Amino acid sequence: MEQRDSEAAPPTLGVGMVGYAFMGAAHSQGWRTAGRVFDLPMRPVLAAIGGRDAAAVRAAAVKHGWAAAETDWRDLVTRDDVQLVDICTPGDSHAEIAVAALEAGKHVLCEKPLANSVAEAETMVAAAELARERGQLAMVGFNYRRVPAIAYARRLIADGRLGTLRHVRFTYLQDWLVDPDFPLTWRLEREHAGSGALGDLGAHIVDLAQYLAGEPLVGVSALSETFVRERPLLAGASAGLSASGGVERGAVTVDDAALFTGRLASGALASFEATRMASGRKNALRLEINGELGSLAFDLERLNELSFHDHTEPAASSGFRRILVTEPEHPYLEAWWPPGHALGYEHTFAHQARDLVEAIATGTDPAPSFADGLQVQRVLAAVEESAEKNAVFTPVPTAPQASAQASAQTSVQAQV
Ligand SMILES: NC(=O)c1ccc[n+]([C@@H]2O[C@H](COP(=O)([O-])OP(=O)(O)OC[C@H]3O[C@@H](n4cnc5c(N)ncnc54)[C@H](O)[C@@H]3O)[C@@H](O)[C@H]2O)c1
Repeated sequence: MEQRDSEAAPPTLGVGMVGYAFMGAAHSQGWRTAGRVFDLPMRPVLAAIGGRDAAAVRAAAVKHGWAAAETDWRDLVTRDDVQLVDICTPGDSHAEIAVAALEAGKHVLCEKPLANSVAEAETMVAAAELARERGQLAMVGFNYRRVPAIAYARRLIADGRLGTLRHVRFTYLQDWLVDPDFPLTWRLEREHAGSGALGDLGAHIVDLAQYLAGEPLVGVSALSETFVRERPLLAGASAGLSASGGVERGAVTVDDAALFTGRLASGALASFEATRMASGRKNALRLEINGELGSLAFDLERLNELSFHDHTEPAASSGFRRILVTEPEHPYLEAWWPPGHALGYEHTFAHQARDLVEAIATGTDPAPSFADGLQVQRVLAAVEESAEKNAVFTPVPTAPQASAQASAQTSVQAQV
């Protein structure tokens, strides 16, 4: 790593990012901001941005503050001034770019879902394990773990404030596909996206359920549906959730909505709903977790608030209370604004950058790891398999090292 002139300056960490649209902009914001808000042991440098269209990638470099632009990601991942490759492309390119970057000796941050299939995710985990022996780290971009209220919820659960968990309940509702004339972007094509609302939104809530509960899902029962089966072909490029369509139509090859129930290793029951067809709901990631000692509830559309019910308090005066998660004692808040001066969606990307930089500087394994991403992928695959069989309960294969999970799974299978 190159050293700054001043003796006191931290070493730099050159970042190379592939993809420059929605997540490209959000991650740029994170890389630009993290070192200016948090005291980081390394200073992220926006070294190079990659994309396929030369003019567009140069414009993105200027707009988002990247020093150089590349039109082939292969050239980006081998640059000497890049130590970390940040993958912000659709799922169909995650595995190829991540494996090449790891083989080139780089750390990797990869957007979610980790891959488009379990097989690809397994390849990525194998590459990450080999790279780990050389001191390289790999992390998946499940940024909602970095919402302070969610990180604080995890702390309360880990501290035992909810006791034994009984229910985890998640919905992730958006409405940008309600219009049947919304065009056929990559998010609606299986070869690019892997799956639809399931991989796009369901991946986030599966990760959050397993993160917050601290245990894996061992089986699922699912239904899914594609309500609009043909859409206008794209006219021009799409970015994020914006696109315009032409006259010709093409087939939608992914789900519009997925509903599933599941069982966690401990026996707690889980329910999930992921849809881009919930009119009026823009980014409504909601959760409620009930334990024998209390409950937590959260809504991403009010992301500075966490609801907590302590069931050990006298019934007459107990009830859900609203915690405004903006105190310096709350996760990530020590470096931001005075209490009550709220944070938003974009801050999760600065938190993600901070956590990864700290992990790299200290040689600590970051979370969520590629193995965590693979576990989510296994759940998504089990959901698809179950939905194909009209909701037949489908076990989620567990990682070989997780013997406790395996025995829990066996007991679940025995009950079905
Ligand atoms: N964490 C979150 O909250 C969140 C939100 C949205 C999307 N995502 C994930 O981020 C990833 C990207 O989604 P997005 O919304 O930014 O998509 P997008 O369509 O806005 O941008 C995709 C970018 O990748 C580029 N690209 C596509 N294929 C490429 C290839 N083969 N080589 C080089 N560049 C290529 C495109 O030119 C574009 O710049 C996906 O995995 C998606 O699931 C995560």
